[in-house]
Amino acid sequence: MRRVMSVTDLFGKNELPSDVGLQLNADGQLRHLLTLQGLSKSLLGNLLDQSEQYLSPMGQPVVRSDALRDRTVANLFFEPSTRTRASFDLAARRMGADVLNLDVNTSSRKKGESILDTLYTLQSMQVDIFVIRDASAGVPAYIARHVDKHVSVLNAGESDISHPTQGLLDLLTIRRHKGDFSKLNVAIVGDIAHSRVARSAAIGLTTMGVHELRLVSPEALAPDPATFPPCRIMHDLNDGLRDADVVMALRIQRERIGSLDGIPGIDEYFASFGISSERMKLAAPDAIVMHPGPMNRGIEIESSLADSPQSVIREQVTNGVAVRMAILATVARTLESQCPD
Ligand code: CP
Repeated sequence: MRRVMSVTDLFGKNELPSDVGLQLNADGQLRHLLTLQGLSKSLLGNLLDQSEQYLSPMGQPVVRSDALRDRTVANLFFEPSTRTRASFDLAARRMGADVLNLDVNTSSRKKGESILDTLYTLQSMQVDIFVIRDASAGVPAYIARHVDKHVSVLNAGESDISHPTQGLLDLLTIRRHKGDFSKLNVAIVGDIAHSRVARSAAIGLTTMGVHELRLVSPEALAPDPATFPPCRIMHDLNDGLRDADVVMALRIQRERIGSLDGIPGIDEYFASFGISSERMKLAAPDAIVMHPGPMNRGIEIESSLADSPQSVIREQVTNGVAVRMAILATVARTLESQCPD
């Protein structure tokens, strides 16, 4: 399998990040969001409570606030994105921020500019919050170590390591349907090995006290247990789905896999690991089906199931805007509190 490039490859061994301690300021306030690791149950619960305030019924006016008035948010996406980028953009605008969107094709990184020079350039334009997606592990923390003290960094997807706002929107979606995490069996199914979504969901669910977390995959896509919180690693989908309250399907991350050796072809994969309405009969009768997107219909999930009443996939997208509004408002308050007038 392809080795994912890490921050040590890019910047040298002395720059290894320790994301966990970097996130909170001396007063315990959230300054950067790099990972869900190390964030307390009460902090996560508080972010979910705040997110609820930014939801409104479909067809009704969206919730707006001026929490980011006079703030500038820069979305730096050096990997493709639809959901995360659009929702950070909408979230920031709905709270009154100026928003700058840069991607790899329009930024001077394409001409060889270092990521720090890009950062310092935008910081000089008074960007307050950087939202960063990058294929290399460690980049969000590396940037967080170098920004000025009045600037925040939010991780919008980092290699196969971390996708904390996705983890939060998954928690919010589960909590809105199921309430108490301590009673839930959650099955995450698919390419666990290469999934930042699975890692962040697993950390978040464990922190919230989920009853049982099952990671179900072919052997070739199984996770390294050392990189996940305690959970059941399984290779039989029927066993994994039995009495599950929540089933999360994952895409095969082909862009992160060097060799497809040992990975079943499409038809075989769907037969063994595809989530279908028929298979969902093994789960709890009121189980919900999730997918972070982008979906490959007919590979990891049956198309009709993705559009069925059991599916909460579109609610996940809606909740993603609310979660990102809550995160942006939270770090803006932290910046406000640590900067003198
Ligand atoms: N779930 C997710 O991160 O989707 P995007 O890649 O479209 O942002």
